[in-house]
Amino acid sequence: MSERLTKSAARNIFYGGTIFFLVIFLGLTLHSHNYIVNESSNSDQLTESVVAGKHIWERNSCINCHTLLGEGAYYAPELGNVWVRYGGKDDPEGARDMLKSWMQAQPSGIEGRRQMPQFNLSDQELEQLVDFLKWTSEIDTQNWPPNEAG
Ligand code: HEC
Repeated sequence: MSERLTKSAARNIFYGGTIFFLVIFLGLTLHSHNYIVNESSNSDQLTESVVAGKHIWERNSCINCHTLLGEGAYYAPELGNVWVRYGGKDDPEGARDMLKSWMQAQPSGIEGRRQMPQFNLSDQELEQLVDFLKWTSEIDTQNWPPNEAG
């Protein structure tokens, strides 16, 4: 073996290292994709109503004020776990009613409190939004956000 690093040895280290880490990177990417598609998101629970709710969410740009699982704006509360916060696990009907009437009662007009606009959504649209928020809360986020307030 020569004392010095030859050109071809350097090239082999470069190509070998590149391929080695590329394989690891691709493996991790596939694993993440598989985990998201098959394990963490409850895609078998995706009903037409959940999908419709997501479209209402997008059409009304709720994300311009709210975060959903951490993504979005920080003006208004995180909504990824609002279903849990409203007690949806123990009393789904109660949580549904509370969420719907909350949205119908906005803006609250309370001075010094941030305001949410009135979107004038129909009862069916509100139902679909709640279905979407409920579905979102059931995604396995590995206990994120760490506290109930989001
Ligand atoms: C212009 C900003 C803005 C937009 C757009 C907006 N919101 Fe809000 N939302 C707020 C604010 C501010 C609050 C908190 C108000 C308060 O606590 O009095 C809030 C609160 C809520 C809550 C109650 C959260 C809790 O923890 O009590 C729900 C549910 C909600 N919004 C749903 C929606 C949905 C669904 C949309 C889209 C259709 C939407 N918001 C669009 C500003 C906004």
